[in-house]
Amino acid sequence: MKPTVAPFPATRLRRLRSTDALRRLSRQHRLSVDDLIWPIFVMDGTDTEEAIPSMPGVTRKTLDRAVAAAKEAHALRIPAICIFPYTSMDARTEDCALAWSPDNISNQTIRAIKDAVPEMAIMTDIALDPYNINGHDGFVEDGQIVNDRTVEALVKMAIAQAEAGADILGPSDMMDGRIAAIRAALESNGHHNVAILSYTAKYASAFYGPFRDAVGASAALTGDKNTYQMDPGNADEAMRLVERDLSEGADMIMVKPGMPYLDICRAAKEMFSVPVFAYQVSGEYAMLQAAAQNGWLDGDKVMMESLLSFKRAGCDGILTYFAPAAARMLRNMA
Ligand code: PBG
Repeated sequence: MKPTVAPFPATRLRRLRSTDALRRLSRQHRLSVDDLIWPIFVMDGTDTEEAIPSMPGVTRKTLDRAVAAAKEAHALRIPAICIFPYTSMDARTEDCALAWSPDNISNQTIRAIKDAVPEMAIMTDIALDPYNINGHDGFVEDGQIVNDRTVEALVKMAIAQAEAGADILGPSDMMDGRIAAIRAALESNGHHNVAILSYTAKYASAFYGPFRDAVGASAALTGDKNTYQMDPGNADEAMRLVERDLSEGADMIMVKPGMPYLDICRAAKEMFSVPVFAYQVSGEYAMLQAAAQNGWLDGDKVMMESLLSFKRAGCDGILTYFAPAAARMLRNMA
């Protein structure tokens, strides 16, 4: 049914826009600090941060600095932090064994943050790319990214992260069958309450460029990820993936990147009524920051407007590098 609007002058849609009070009263969607997950980059060493040139304002942090960041995030009431490890070329191997080591930098950071700020939810990334010599999310055999052997490795990674104390696991690899395998392993190892936020509709996107610089994958990556990440032309396939991941035991699903894929967020929310998250990825952050630094856009305003767009599209939360800045704005507005 087409909604009907009474004709002018009975209806003046400008009426509810006429004062700040009326605008606040009639506002349908709002961003809250409760919606934010903050992705951070961690590296070996102590008391150091390295700037990432393509992500102005974002740094790679050593463990002690990551703990300090988690404390800061907690003080701002950000509910969750997501950890991504930086690995140099010489720490990468073909067998990716560091990925499931209890002592890799990611697992060390989980333990240290859990110790210092136990209330902070910690999310992880499950994929082989930070540890793989060729930068791929899965093992490469004869030039092919192999599925089932990769899933076995992802399960080992998941268990190591759960043992370290992670609250939310984020499989970002796009292999088939990984959610079922990870869920079964979590159950049989007693990790009943470890949640899975699946990177469900993850597109083969050029917007990940700055992230690959941040984790040291740009130099490593040979070829592209088109045989496992989704084709940007597809929408129906995203719904099949949501259905599949939910049936395999995902608690929450993610659409990634965010702003260019808001249609997918909306469709997933409408069809499945489950928690939907968007990842406002590195390239989205980079383009807003670059324009703001040039004085071409008002940085604070476009940050808040872009984050609100996810709420309007039906998302329950957003992974964003803007999390601390947005949390500060929200606190100052309250
Ligand atoms: C890799 C992974 C990527 C991102 C998160 N996990 C990059 C990729 O698939 O190459 C991208 C995040 C961003 O761009 O901010 N498993």
